[in-house]
Amino acid sequence: MEKGVNNAISKRVQGIPASGIRKYFDLLASMEGAISLGVGEPDFTTPWHISEAGIYAIEKGYTMYTSNYGLIELRKALAEHLQNRYCVAYNPNNEILITTGSSEALDLAMRAIINPGEEVIIPDPGYVAYMPCTVLAGGVVVPVPTFAENDFKVKAEEIEKRITPRTKAILLGFPNNPTGAVIDRKELELIADVVRRHNLMVISDEIYDRLVYGVEHTCFASLPGMQERTILINGFSKAYAMTGWRIGYALARAEIIEAMMKVHQYVMMCTPIMSQMAAIEAIKNGEEAVQQMVAEYDQRRRVIVKGLNEIGLRCFEPKGAFYAFPSIKSTGLSSGEFADKLLTEEKVVVIPGSAFGKCGEGYVRCCYAVSLPEIEEALERLKRFVIRCEQGRV
Ligand SMILES: Cc1ncc(COP(=O)(O)O)c(C=O)c1O
Repeated sequence: MEKGVNNAISKRVQGIPASGIRKYFDLLASMEGAISLGVGEPDFTTPWHISEAGIYAIEKGYTMYTSNYGLIELRKALAEHLQNRYCVAYNPNNEILITTGSSEALDLAMRAIINPGEEVIIPDPGYVAYMPCTVLAGGVVVPVPTFAENDFKVKAEEIEKRITPRTKAILLGFPNNPTGAVIDRKELELIADVVRRHNLMVISDEIYDRLVYGVEHTCFASLPGMQERTILINGFSKAYAMTGWRIGYALARAEIIEAMMKVHQYVMMCTPIMSQMAAIEAIKNGEEAVQQMVAEYDQRRRVIVKGLNEIGLRCFEPKGAFYAFPSIKSTGLSSGEFADKLLTEEKVVVIPGSAFGKCGEGYVRCCYAVSLPEIEEALERLKRFVIRCEQGRV
């Protein structure tokens, strides 16, 4: 190899880990008869009337670029939807940006507001992309631990303890991936108070806002004084089963959306028009389908949480998203060992909690966006595995 070739990769990229989830997808692909509680996406296909809107878009010749901000019709529909749902008012002309998945919105938000060395406080465990997005934008991650004893809710006082003169923002991801935790309005108000007093920004990833069970989701931007300090991120992947369409959005005050759009126009130009047309149909006429899917997830949630606790894998009741996050500490294995051995011995995929941060160690993420028979079979296999662990045969 020529001299210097080894230095090809930037230090920044070298500094981020590959996602701790992907490895299991690759293993799964080469294994027959495996059940995956690993992948974090709906098992439903996109409701047909939404897919049809995408198909019609192509049939009618909508195959070109759109405005960098996204189709105005979609932005207007989103503004109306959010006004009705959360009583927040966003101007569709300059306070909404349509992105290629909420993943892109997250990256743009970081790049738009973070200066090198500025700190972002992020609850741990949290979604795998939060840390890399911060680091790639030149920021520094300051984790704030959350614990099962407290249903993995982040506490305002724990956030405040970690604020320094370099703190720029807090990243909230609730309902949470991987824990399924939600935060109630009272705690969010305490967090808002910290945000106000320390003059911070909030990036609020609310992609699971529609997937809540028996509780109400509070939109962070709807709290008094928070809209101007919040970059609200959401998307169509989870609520409408549209992961493959790659469409999400960000809402913030005009100056911030303008900054995010500046990056977006150079790296993405716009989100595919057919996905945007499908999203218009989703937001206008998708409510019934969302509610049907939520009812299904709720049923599965009850079965998996009960089953895990009966096996002896203690699991608090998650009130949001589609994840259960049981403790595997009783088995004496690390979360990585547990996931690896469970896959090899029982062909069930779960994701080690350590993939989501230090506080995830001792837990595994089980996605229950799979059919009930599969959940029941996975629980049987888990039971056999846990018994073998207890007998020291693993
Ligand atoms: C918390 C969270 N945020 C963002 C995303 C990204 O979703 P998408 O880019 O499909 O909108 C995911 C996907 O798993 C997620 O779990």
